[in-house]
Amino acid sequence: MDRFRVRGGRRLGGSVRVSGAKNAALPALAATLLTDQPVTLNNVPGVNDVRTMFRVLEHLGAEAVVENGSSCRVRVGALKELEAPYDLVRKMRASVLVLGPLVARFGRARVSLPGGCAIGERPIEMHLAALRRLGATVELAHGYVDARAGRLEGAEITFEMKTVTGTENALMAATLARGSTVLRNCAGEPEIVDLAELLRAMGARIEGAGSDVIRIEGVPSLHGAVHSIVPDRIEAATFIMAGVLAGGSVSVEACRPDHLGAPIERLREAGARIETTETSVRVSGGFPLSSRDVVTAPYPGFATDLQAQYMTAMTQASGASVITEAIFENRFMHVSELRRMGADISHDGRQAIVKGRTRLTGAQVMATDLRASACLVLAALIAEGTTDLNRVYHIDRGYERIEEKLLALGADIERMKT
Ligand code: EPZ
Repeated sequence: MDRFRVRGGRRLGGSVRVSGAKNAALPALAATLLTDQPVTLNNVPGVNDVRTMFRVLEHLGAEAVVENGSSCRVRVGALKELEAPYDLVRKMRASVLVLGPLVARFGRARVSLPGGCAIGERPIEMHLAALRRLGATVELAHGYVDARAGRLEGAEITFEMKTVTGTENALMAATLARGSTVLRNCAGEPEIVDLAELLRAMGARIEGAGSDVIRIEGVPSLHGAVHSIVPDRIEAATFIMAGVLAGGSVSVEACRPDHLGAPIERLREAGARIETTETSVRVSGGFPLSSRDVVTAPYPGFATDLQAQYMTAMTQASGASVITEAIFENRFMHVSELRRMGADISHDGRQAIVKGRTRLTGAQVMATDLRASACLVLAALIAEGTTDLNRVYHIDRGYERIEEKLLALGADIERMKT
């Protein structure tokens, strides 16, 4: 298992290019199951979760071809298999995104239940309820979801709570259903808008993606398309916080500042110097920060995927800040690791209180989930001394070559093969 060795205290400067969004690439790859024609995706991030999704598609019978760095071409003719097996799904719960497309196009799917993960139990009952509303029979047995349908029938579906991949599964399934579907209380993340753009390019008839209500007119079949994946707003915000904490002047390029409203506003309120253009964000570090509370929320609120990184920023802000994790029930595992580096943080249940400003010192720390890893990298960049971050496979799931990007900004970071 690789680890990162980071020597803190370097001032960052220069520009970094953001990759395509992992959480847009995964549903886009699942959507290739909806047609027998080739779909080309550009700006696909070279991260392990995307590689796992390639393996799921290839297991099912797709021909997935990675053409060059960030482009891939996927064609799903006849399937070898209708089952997404446990040993793949347990590696990446987003594999459940093949459920809707498989049932919609092939009338059958067996997908291992993802089970919980470090940050929470993360059930998928809203995904299954939506498929049942569309006319599928869905049974759970032996740890698998077994879904069958003739042609799906359009329906009115209201999600009990906002679910990103639940909305994506239902949206993909409805594109091939007979008649109209209305999805209500939908999640509005930019990755859902991006998926809808791909589906429309494939011939789907969709209105309202990004809002609470999405309307779909089913069509008999979809065709191939070429689509460029939206930039990763979580990676962009992570590098913005790196600039706030350890800059110099850092320019985050090839991103979508219009998707970064909540984190940029909160960081500016805390004293960060941030300028934006249409496709880039320039951060000037070295300015004093003052504490600001945050509550995570569905988009356009403050993303739960930025909660851990923001916590690191608040360790350098003067005063106490309250960070409330309102989406997942167990997303504070980075607190104990930050405390080992000298942070003054207490937490119970869904709230953490960060007292700053504290001096962080390098330590041996452990990554526990994807975004917690990113927060520990940020802490290591500003800590006095050397930090060894173990289990970086977590960060490799969702950040493309993060150590190379940080090295190019002047950080002292190396990957140690162990
Ligand atoms: C997506 O997960 C993202 N993953 C997550 O990013 C992100 O943290 C999350 O949305 C919230 O923004 C992908 O897009 C691949 P949800 P998802 O369904 O869709 C509960 C990362 O770091 N829920 O919006 O699984 C659920 O337990 C990952 O890149 C149900 O109770 O999240 C959670 O508490 C981590 N029943 C809340 O809803 C359901 O049927 C929101 O979950 C579905 C969800």
